[in-house]
Amino acid sequence: MSFPKDFLWGGASAANQYEGGMLSGGRGLSTSDVITSGNKKTPRKITYKKENGSIETQPFSSIHIEEKVEFNCFPGYTYPSERAIEGAFRYKEDIALMKEMGFKVYRMSLSWSRIFPTGMGEANEEGLKFYEEIFEELIRCGIEPLVTICHYEMPVALTNQYNGWKSKEVIEFYEKYVKTIAQRYKGKVKYWIPFNEINCNGWMLNGMPSQKEADLELAHKHILLASAKAVKILRQVDKNNKIGSMVAYGLYNPLTCNPEDVLATWKKMQWVYFTQDVQVRGYYPNYKIKELENKQIDIALSIEEEQILKEGTVDYIAFSYYLSMCVSVDPEAKDFSIGNMNMGYTNPYLKTSEWGWAIDPVGLRLSLNYLYDRYQLPLIIVENGLGAKDEMENGHIHDTYRIDYLRAHIIEMKKAIEEDGVELFGYTPWGWIDLVSASTGEMEKRYGFVYVDIQDDGTGNGDRYKKDSFYWYKKVIETNGEDLE
Ligand code: BG6
Repeated sequence: MSFPKDFLWGGASAANQYEGGMLSGGRGLSTSDVITSGNKKTPRKITYKKENGSIETQPFSSIHIEEKVEFNCFPGYTYPSERAIEGAFRYKEDIALMKEMGFKVYRMSLSWSRIFPTGMGEANEEGLKFYEEIFEELIRCGIEPLVTICHYEMPVALTNQYNGWKSKEVIEFYEKYVKTIAQRYKGKVKYWIPFNEINCNGWMLNGMPSQKEADLELAHKHILLASAKAVKILRQVDKNNKIGSMVAYGLYNPLTCNPEDVLATWKKMQWVYFTQDVQVRGYYPNYKIKELENKQIDIALSIEEEQILKEGTVDYIAFSYYLSMCVSVDPEAKDFSIGNMNMGYTNPYLKTSEWGWAIDPVGLRLSLNYLYDRYQLPLIIVENGLGAKDEMENGHIHDTYRIDYLRAHIIEMKKAIEEDGVELFGYTPWGWIDLVSASTGEMEKRYGFVYVDIQDDGTGNGDRYKKDSFYWYKKVIETNGEDLE
């Protein structure tokens, strides 16, 4: 048997893409709620009001606002988080589906603004109770919760008042949030992730109106300090807690063997590694210090802050893996595309998904090896999957393309364990159930084993249907990854 006998098979979701009930149960608005829906062609936008009262928008991927504005939801716009897939009201039925598939683990996130509606002040008991009931239900069903504390959202009040993670003060609000959940969920949750895809430093991670380079570095410093503090708090509250670093593992390969492409690829990979290097080793790596010096960006870590980083190193490595990309220094190179929070050239040897993401299962084996070689810590793949359009035929969805994608990736995971000796302890494919897409804000891009009847025009009653991949994955789990047919 290649997968360890206690291997954690499961699936993943995130609060802002799953729950809906944006203002239910005393919840406050978050930075992801104020992003409109979009699709492949129309970018998602962030909505805000200027001091003169005019309501404006900017694409979330390139937001840059210097003046004082108020981020909020306004009439006349569609916000997919408002309904999402109604998970806040249907989680019992969803957990029953996970149980039927045989999940051992469920990676989910907490909405910070459900627990602290403005990020400041006192905790919202209703929000705390809401997650407590989910954990109790999961445990009753024999499913271990793996909790992301911040998955691409924070209370929007912290953006309106503090410019998000640009401000040091936000670290204290985050600390209070972590202390509250660590104490409340002690004994119920063991696996934690302080931040989702901590290397992807844009609005969804940092909640900052202006994305100037120096501000981005400052935000990263604050987020890394917050992460280290979370590790310390979680360990102090319960020594059994296990805390992981989580990055978007954007695997880059050189487009050609031109040494300049190889060099540029290595530089690009530092974007992937920087935050994880800090979280694992407890200090800024030299390449980052030099980069900051050369750009004349001074983030001045005090001795006390250095100590915080040192004391807050993680226990395991979590990462998302969807695709690989290529790097080229050739200005004539073709097929530049956007992937999962990253950009690069499309590998001519690979096929792509309908959304242009290059499918590269061998790249997953490489990623597992690169990460294990670098850190020698246990690994878990907390996101992986195929976003595709699904057609319902008489209540059935024959998603063989999704099964093919997942099978190919599981085979490479197996090789990484059996042949390369990588220590892999779990797999939670993304979007175990169809969710709102983070990058495009649509429902059409579906990842799930479970189909959700919600369409982009707002129609659909939210009902859940098992796809062919549901039965396939159930068998994979039952046989601990041996039967992949
Ligand atoms: C990851 C995020 O970047 O990719 C998820 O952590 C996201 O929140 C996932 O949903 C897939 O991306 P998308 O844009 O297809 O939803």
